[in-house]
Amino acid sequence: MAIPREVIEEILYRTDIEELVGSYVTLKRAGSNLSGLCPFHSEKTPSFSVSPAKKFFYCFGCGAGGDAITFVMKMENLDYPQAVEFLAKRAGVTIPESGKHENGFSRERVYAMNVEAAKFFRTCLFDPKYGQEAMEYLRGKRRLSTEIIRRFGLGFSPNTFGMLTDHMHKKGYRDEELIAGFLCGKSQKTGRSYDYFRNRVMFPIIDVSGNVIAFGGRVMDDSKPKYLNSSDTPGFKKSKNLFALNYAKGACAEQMILCEGYMDVIAMHAAGFENAVATLGTSLTSEQARLMTKYTKKVIISYDSDEAGQRAADRAIRMLGEVGLDVRVLRLSGAKDPDEFIKLYGADRLRSLLGESKTWFDFKWNTLTTRYNLNTPSDRIKASEEACALIAGVFSPIEREVYISQIAGPLDLPVDVIKNNVERMVAKRRSEAKRKEGQDARLSIRNYGDRTNIDAAKNIAANAAEEAILGLLLLYEEHRSAVRSGKVILRAEDFFTALGRRMFEEIMRLDATDGGFMFSLLGESFTPDEMGRMQKYMRERSSLTANGSEVLSSSIEALRRAVQKTEEKKGDLSDLILKKRNQSKTKE
Ligand code: UTP
Ligand code: MN
Repeated sequence: MAIPREVIEEILYRTDIEELVGSYVTLKRAGSNLSGLCPFHSEKTPSFSVSPAKKFFYCFGCGAGGDAITFVMKMENLDYPQAVEFLAKRAGVTIPESGKHENGFSRERVYAMNVEAAKFFRTCLFDPKYGQEAMEYLRGKRRLSTEIIRRFGLGFSPNTFGMLTDHMHKKGYRDEELIAGFLCGKSQKTGRSYDYFRNRVMFPIIDVSGNVIAFGGRVMDDSKPKYLNSSDTPGFKKSKNLFALNYAKGACAEQMILCEGYMDVIAMHAAGFENAVATLGTSLTSEQARLMTKYTKKVIISYDSDEAGQRAADRAIRMLGEVGLDVRVLRLSGAKDPDEFIKLYGADRLRSLLGESKTWFDFKWNTLTTRYNLNTPSDRIKASEEACALIAGVFSPIEREVYISQIAGPLDLPVDVIKNNVERMVAKRRSEAKRKEGQDARLSIRNYGDRTNIDAAKNIAANAAEEAILGLLLLYEEHRSAVRSGKVILRAEDFFTALGRRMFEEIMRLDATDGGFMFSLLGESFTPDEMGRMQKYMRERSSLTANGSEVLSSSIEALRRAVQKTEEKKGDLSDLILKKRNQSKTKE
């Protein structure tokens, strides 16, 4: 196990869940509990509750639930060890170095190793013997100043198989660590490790707290792959970080610039736009979008001007809009990306272009008008319909009005006609949404569409029995010991749903450890959603008065009967419905 349970106990003991949750959510006292608006789904009446005595939270609306660790995982977008560290810092508890191991490697050690490697790459870049060509590339071809090269910690990986490996060995790093950190590869033939990055300009990837979490390395010619990147390692998830956020975080309160490439960001910073960031070689993730909302309110998308860039911008518009950011799009002309634009036309031209950045609607409208020829009737109809559909998706009636009057002229159509068309679409969407809501509610009552436990719908009776059993096992030590000792016969194979089986196995595994079962330790093996599910099972059981051994036995009986029934009726109606449903899903 990673972090010792005593440490986790200590952290939880010292964490006041009321104060922790209260720093994100306004809580009001309601009996022995506290209630407020759920931070994990949007609602107008509070269904989120915190129990200071039990040190749990639960939302009756969306089913989010768990302990302080689960809360931090969800709220701060962290994995289990990160969330424990977060709480440890907050509570003033130190996690012993040996306890931070993840797959045997501590995050701190990976960071230290990366700093050492970054220093090595930098030394090579500034070394006339090894770094001359790379330095010429960066200063000459890419026109970077020494100052900006230093600011971004750029470096060079020499064209050898062993220089970095030898250096890191001397510094005390073992092969397994170097391989896990993607600094070394391992030869299939000889079994020896070798430098992973060779003959590349190196870009250290630094997280918001200043840790070197990974590297990107670029070739200096046209060979492929252009960039080589470290894969996710202990302490590094591409989907949760943004390049240069460590610098941008202090300069982006008003707006942030989102670029596609490392070089674009560096060029932007060099030109004085210190609020620029980029994703790490992947398209924008919803985690990154949410991360941005912590630092800024408005994002200007500054992607490449080619078709791929524009398509990526389309996607980013949607994702950033979904988290409530004000989204603008920069339209570059005469250059393929911001880096090239700055080189060709200078920072001032870019500044005025940024000032004129288009709203997402202008951007979309612009795309429509280049795709369709508004002088031909059939194209005009298509463009009108698509534009109306875009406007119908806008929530604010005032905003809709503005866009309608904006397109009326170019489409050569009366405002009223467009307006009627848009209103018709809005009404249709509303009734569709309503219908879908009802449908979702009906389906979820019968567990259809349950994404946390996908098997639940296949056997509703079995699932209900499993929920009762798991609730009892989670709540009562006596039931766990009855199962452990064999007094009550219950095995993993008895469970119908894969999730239920996994929960059972983990509960019993923890129960058999020295310290015994502890709810918070489940967080290591289950997602926050799954933790919420277990909260639900516990709450449901504890609201009932009968929770004794006869209830456990009868639930196990019910589970066995329900499973047997499915065995007998394979291919029955509910299976058919499910199949149909899945088919229609894939068609959508
Ligand atoms: P670009 O090709 O636009 O890169 O890819 P760039 O940063 O502008 O690089 P220059 O100007 O050609 O030097 C955008 C981003 O996609 C990722 C990198 O993160 C890059 O910054 N990428 C690209 C890769 O990870 N691997 C590749 O082979 C290419
Ligand atoms: Mn570029």
